[in-house]
Amino acid sequence: MQKKNNILRSFCLAFVLINLTLSQSLTVPLNFKQNGSLYFTLKYNSYGFKECQVNLIPSIYYCSNVITQTAQEAKECGSIDLGYNAQIQGEDYISNFQIGDQQVPLIYTSPNQQSHFYGQNELCFSLQDDRSQANALDYLYQKKFIAEKQVFFSLNSQHSLSQPLPAGKMDIGAADISLINQDSDLVYLKSFGLQNSFSTPINRDLKFGNILLSNNPQLAQFDIESRFHVLSIYTFPSLLQAFDSQGIEYCSENENIFLPSIEKLKDITLSLISEDNSPFVVRLNPQQYTQQLSNGQYQLLFKQQIHNAAFIFGNTIFESYYVGFNKDKKQVLIAKKSQQNSSQF
Ligand SMILES: *[C@@H]1O[C@H](CO)[C@@H](O)[C@H](O)[C@H]1NC(C)=O
Ligand SMILES: *[C@@H]1O[C@H](CO)[C@@H](O)[C@H](O)[C@H]1NC(C)=O
Repeated sequence: MQKKNNILRSFCLAFVLINLTLSQSLTVPLNFKQNGSLYFTLKYNSYGFKECQVNLIPSIYYCSNVITQTAQEAKECGSIDLGYNAQIQGEDYISNFQIGDQQVPLIYTSPNQQSHFYGQNELCFSLQDDRSQANALDYLYQKKFIAEKQVFFSLNSQHSLSQPLPAGKMDIGAADISLINQDSDLVYLKSFGLQNSFSTPINRDLKFGNILLSNNPQLAQFDIESRFHVLSIYTFPSLLQAFDSQGIEYCSENENIFLPSIEKLKDITLSLISEDNSPFVVRLNPQQYTQQLSNGQYQLLFKQQIHNAAFIFGNTIFESYYVGFNKDKKQVLIAKKSQQNSSQF
C-alpha cells in the first residue's frame, strides 16, 4: 500500500513538473502604433470600479522599464509602491497584470515630470543589467514564469496599419515551434559583441538582386519601434544607384523615397553568421521593404542614418522570420517562418 502511494505520488510529481515546463512561456498579442512601432497591451487586475490597462513598447535596445502615470492612477490600478528610484527620478511599483490566463507580477518605475523617461511606456527585455531599472526577462525568470530569458517576435504577413488587431505576437520564455518552416531550424546567430544591444555579424554580402552594394555593413541590429530598415549614409546611396542602374523610377522627398511601382524591384538579400559560422540568408521581398500608400504610390521602407554603420532591420522582418533575443547568451535566434502559419501570425 505504501509503495503504491509512493508510485502515485511520484506520478503526480512528474505530472506537475511536466505541466510547469510546458507553461513556462507567456504569449502576448502585438499591435502597431500609428508611427509603426510595435506595442502590447497589459491589463492590470481590475481594481475597484476602474478598468486599468497600459500600452507598452517591448524595449530590446536600451533598458527602459517605465510606465508614465500619476500616483493616483497607480494606486487606483492596484499597484504597490516600492519606494523612490533616484536614478530614474520616479516611484518604483509592483503590480499584477493579466497575461493570457495568468496573473503576472511586474516591477516598473513611474517617472516624474523631471525624469527624462517621462512620457515613455516601455518594458525592458534588453540584454542590459541596469541596476536602476528592472529587466522584465530577469524578473519573470526569477519568478519562474518563463523557462529562459528570451523573447520572440512574429508578425502577421498580411497586415496593414489599418487592419483589425492583433498584428502579431510576442513569445516570452520559449519559442513557438509551430511557426517555423519545416525546412528551417531556429538558428543561434553569432554575437557581434556590442555591450548594450543585440547585434550579429553580416557576411558583407548585402545585395539588391545580383548587385552587391558598396560600403557593405558588417553588423545587423533590430528595431522594434520602426517599420523602416536602416542603412548608413554610405550604403544607402548605393541602393539608389542600384535602382538607377535597373531603370527603376523613384523620387525623394525629405528623406523619404517614393516609387510609382514595385514591379521592377528585386529581393534584397544578405547573410547573417550563425554560431557554427554557416551563413543564414535573409531575403526581403519588395512587399517587405515597401508599403503602399493611400494614393497608390509605394514608400521605400529604408532610411539612412548618420553615425550608424549597422544594417538595422525594421520590424517588418518579423513577417517572414521568427526572431528571438536571448539575454543570457547575448544572442539573436532566427528561423524562417512557415508560409502557412505566417499568415496567421
Ligand atoms: C502550423 O501551426 C499548427 C499549430 O498552430 C501546427 O499544428 C502545424 O503543424 C503548423 N504547420 C506548419 C506547416 O508548420
Ligand atoms: C513611435 O513612438 C514611440 C513612442 O510612443 C517611440 O518610442 C518610437 O521611437 C516611435 N517610432 C518612430 C519610428 O518614430
